[in-house]
Amino acid sequence: MDILGSLLIILLGTITGTRADVHPIDKYGLKGGAACLAVRENPHQEMAMKWMTDDNVIVVSEEVSPEYKERVDYNSTDHSLCLRKLEQTDTGIYIAYNVEKWKETQMVKYNLMVQEAVSIPVMEVVSLSSNYSGGMCDVTVNCSVPGVWVLSVCDGGQCTLSQQSLSHTRVNIIISNDNGTIQCTGKNNFSAETNSQRMEDICIGRYYRS
Ligand SMILES: *[C@@H]1O[C@H](CO)[C@@H](O)[C@H](O)[C@H]1NC(C)=O
Ligand SMILES: *[C@@H]1O[C@H](CO)[C@@H](O)[C@H](O)[C@H]1NC(C)=O
Ligand SMILES: *[C@@H]1O[C@H](CO)[C@@H](O)[C@H](O)[C@H]1NC(C)=O
Ligand SMILES: *[C@@H]1O[C@H](CO)[C@@H](O)[C@H](O)[C@H]1NC(C)=O
Ligand SMILES: *[C@@H]1O[C@H](CO)[C@@H](O)[C@H](O)[C@H]1NC(C)=O
Repeated sequence: MDILGSLLIILLGTITGTRADVHPIDKYGLKGGAACLAVRENPHQEMAMKWMTDDNVIVVSEEVSPEYKERVDYNSTDHSLCLRKLEQTDTGIYIAYNVEKWKETQMVKYNLMVQEAVSIPVMEVVSLSSNYSGGMCDVTVNCSVPGVWVLSVCDGGQCTLSQQSLSHTRVNIIISNDNGTIQCTGKNNFSAETNSQRMEDICIGRYYRS
C-alpha cells in the first residue's frame, strides 16, 4: 500500500475515533446586550457542569472564572449561562460539559455571534432623466450603512440591482419601489431600519440626498 493510502487510513481512524461532536446552535447577541445559553435537556441538579469557550473555562464546580465574574450569571439549578455587556470579541464557540470523575461529555454547544444594531440607511438618489410624468422617472439609488452599500436602478415600477460592495458585515440591504416610494431597508438578525423617498420628490428635485 502506498504512503498516501496509509495516511488516509490513519487520518480516518483519528476522525472516527474521536467522540461525536454536538452540532452547534447558532445564537445571536446584540452588542452591549445579553445572551443566555441554556442546557437544553433536563440536567440532573447534582450534575457537575463546566462551560468553556476556546481554551478558557468560564464556569467550573459552580464557580465563575474571575475573568468573567463581572458580567456572567450562572444558574446552578438549570446550569444556564448568561453573558451580559456583550462585546464583539465574545463571538465564538461555547460548550457545556457534563463533568464526571473519569469522563467529560459535551451537553450543548453554541455558536455565539455578536452584532451591532443596524443604523438608518443613507440614501443617495440621482435622477437619470428630467422627463417627469406622473411622479415617475428613472433613478439610481445608492443605499448604504457603514461598511456596506447597494446600488439599484429604479424605474416607475421596480428596482434592479446594479452593483454592490463586497461586505463582511452581516447586514442585508433591500431596495424596493412600492407605489412610487423607494424604500431602503438595512437589516441583520436584531434590527431593521428603513429610509424612504417618494419618486415624485426625486423626479421634481432631480437630486436628493437624505
Ligand atoms: C435558575 O433556574 C431555575 C430553573 O429554570 C429557575 O427556577 C430559577 O429562577 C433560576 N434562578 C435564577 C437566579 O435565575
Ligand atoms: C417624456 O415621456 C413621455 C412618455 O413617456 C414621452 O411621450 C415624451 O416624448 C418624453 N419627453 C421627452 C422630452 O423625452
Ligand atoms: C455608494 O455609497 C457609498 C457610501 O457613500 C460609497 O462608498 C460607494 O462608493 C457608493 N457606490 C457607488 C457605486 O457609487
Ligand atoms: C398608490 O398611491 C396613490 C397615490 O398616493 C394612491 O391613490 C393609490 O391608492 C396607491 N395604490 C396602492 C396599491 O397602494
Ligand atoms: C440571520 O441568521 C440566519 C441563521 O439563523 C443566518 O443564516 C443569516 O445569515 C443571518 N442574517 C444576517 C443578515 O446576519
